Amino acid sequence: WVFARDEQAGAELPDFSDATWKPVDLPHDWAIAGPFDPQYRGMVGGLPIYGVGWYRKHFTVPVSDEGKVIRIRFDGAMAESSVWVNGQLVGERPNGYVVVEYDVSKLLNYGGDNVIAVKLAPQVHSARWYTGAGINRDVWIEVDEPVHFDRRETVLTMPEVSDASATVSIDTAVRMPQGTKKNVPLMLRLLDADGKPVASARVGVATPDDQGLAKVAQQLTIPRPHLWSPDQPYLYKLEFTLGSGKKPVDTMSLPVGLRSIVFTPNDGMLINGQRVSIRGVCIHDDNGALGAVDNHRALQRKLQLFKELGVNAIRTSHNSPSPVLVQLANEMGFLLNVESFDVWRQAKNDMPNAYNLHFDEWHERDLVDMIKTFRNDPSVMMWSTGNEVVEQKSPDGEAIGKMLNEIVHRTDPTRPTSFGINFYEDSEKNGLFKGVDIVGLNYKSGYYGRFKHDYPDQMVMGSETASMYSSRGVYHLPFEGYERHPEMTVSSYDIISAIWGELPDYGWAKMAENPAVLGEFVWTGIDYLGEPSPYFGEDVNEGGKWNSDWPARSSTFGMIDLAGFPKDRYYLYQSQWTEKPMVHLLPDWNWPGKEGQPIPVMVYTNGDSAELFLNGKSLGTKVMGKDKVTLPVTNRWAPIDEFDTPYRLRWDVPYEPGTLKVVAYRDGKPVVEKQVVTSGVPAKVEVTPDRATIAADGRD
Ligand code: GAL
Repeated sequence: WVFARDEQAGAELPDFSDATWKPVDLPHDWAIAGPFDPQYRGMVGGLPIYGVGWYRKHFTVPVSDEGKVIRIRFDGAMAESSVWVNGQLVGERPNGYVVVEYDVSKLLNYGGDNVIAVKLAPQVHSARWYTGAGINRDVWIEVDEPVHFDRRETVLTMPEVSDASATVSIDTAVRMPQGTKKNVPLMLRLLDADGKPVASARVGVATPDDQGLAKVAQQLTIPRPHLWSPDQPYLYKLEFTLGSGKKPVDTMSLPVGLRSIVFTPNDGMLINGQRVSIRGVCIHDDNGALGAVDNHRALQRKLQLFKELGVNAIRTSHNSPSPVLVQLANEMGFLLNVESFDVWRQAKNDMPNAYNLHFDEWHERDLVDMIKTFRNDPSVMMWSTGNEVVEQKSPDGEAIGKMLNEIVHRTDPTRPTSFGINFYEDSEKNGLFKGVDIVGLNYKSGYYGRFKHDYPDQMVMGSETASMYSSRGVYHLPFEGYERHPEMTVSSYDIISAIWGELPDYGWAKMAENPAVLGEFVWTGIDYLGEPSPYFGEDVNEGGKWNSDWPARSSTFGMIDLAGFPKDRYYLYQSQWTEKPMVHLLPDWNWPGKEGQPIPVMVYTNGDSAELFLNGKSLGTKVMGKDKVTLPVTNRWAPIDEFDTPYRLRWDVPYEPGTLKVVAYRDGKPVVEKQVVTSGVPAKVEVTPDRATIAADGRD
């Protein structure tokens, strides 16, 4: 592809000369190339995520493809895209996150040159985080015979799943020109993970309706199935074949995870009959230094880090995810809360040009396309119709909520909806609670009891929890809460939350008191570009809004930092979310000048007790749950200003250089240990790659 910034008059026309444009490989994000500049606002990463960008590509299509159905698919294009093929406009799409497909068969020169031109025009003040800008996900060209499978209209459901047997209902959709009389054979085969067929069916395809769509319903039953779950994401492959003989007319395959997910108002979420608590994280779409480029290995690495931390669910906040992420979630075992919108009709603060401009015209198509793209994926457990929308406070909130709920249920009757609420009383009053199956509360752990009391039959979860801040490797003394620090970093003692947020410990205690709560999605699993809270800056002038804290420009909410290194908080969650013995201690052990003074030492473990040693001398054993730690509460509206956590251990250790070691115990037996050591004078810097070879395929 070739790329150019800014308006390019006539660039949609085939004869336009793009000789001076820059060659680029897709996926591509022009904004991550910079420059960092406060005029773009730290809130969105201080990067040029708005303006105009053009992409063009010449390609040929063989004469032999004439008469076939040829489609171009964008897994996402950020944002406000217009697409031309050979000078003809094929479509426009404001939403940069949805998967969009165009049939271009009639516009192509078969045997000759073809040009696709894409214009993107993301608006200024249209985002609350770094969205990237450009064709930042894959683009596909699909060539089909006139009779072919329609993947989006094909629907898998699982009416019955148990250890004894599983039934998959398959509604196969086939496109064929109207009037097609031939009875094309359709063959279905389900293969296990070793490629061995375990079930099959052969049927003839029905005649098409007046839209040229034929549907064939079929069921496959699998005795003694391997079930799919986050712990064991076993995937079968469903192969579809149209036509008989050596050269089928079309083939298609879908991953199949046999699982049942049942949400209950009082017994939590049941996966294959077993209660599983949602241990989720919210994420944004960017990949740190790679920007919003949808890179397979970057996403896989992120998910591997989450797996080790004990995460079993992801909320794609606040937008439709990339197909790469969903595929990895199927394969690696994550449950997805797939979210659609961050705003509805009304604009959010300081963001006048966001999706609110397009909601009325596009919400239905965007929502339906999102669901049709991902409804056959086993990882998807629920659809979210919105996050913290302004309509929580307005009279039309209930009506819009119900309308979106109805669209979701019409498109996928098998999964519940959810919604992220931060204004509890307002949403309760204006009826939003009624327009959603699972009420998602953002930073309202203290309301779980009240909610279950008032709505015993409705389901509830923490759709956003914590919003803790920390900068990896930074420890500020004295040990106390604050809103901002002159260094513009945040202490990694894991005691500072956003003023609207809450301590993870407090949320866990509230969940323990209210077992009906389905679980939580922590804000966030990993740091992201933009939203550099608490160093947002102030609104100092129109041109450089929110820039008084420059160069702050990325979030500190993550359990993992922007480069993918775990912070201390990663281990705090790991201590609650995993079984394999682990222990972690902080801070580092370099406190020159503080000899003899007490340094707070924190231990996170899933053992039942731990013993601390300084230079070989025991400093005593402490017991989880019994030796509680008093933490400051930095939520401005919290009814308490201290919280005694049963989820951490603390020693105050007079500083002496050397080795600080912790040993964790279970039933009195040592199970795991960790140490920090005072370092000497730096001698060199060593960089160690996590692997020696990577694939030169643009995805690694
Ligand atoms: C929430 C919001 C998120 C993020 C977070 C930061 O209210 O839904 O998008 O801004 O706050 O704490």
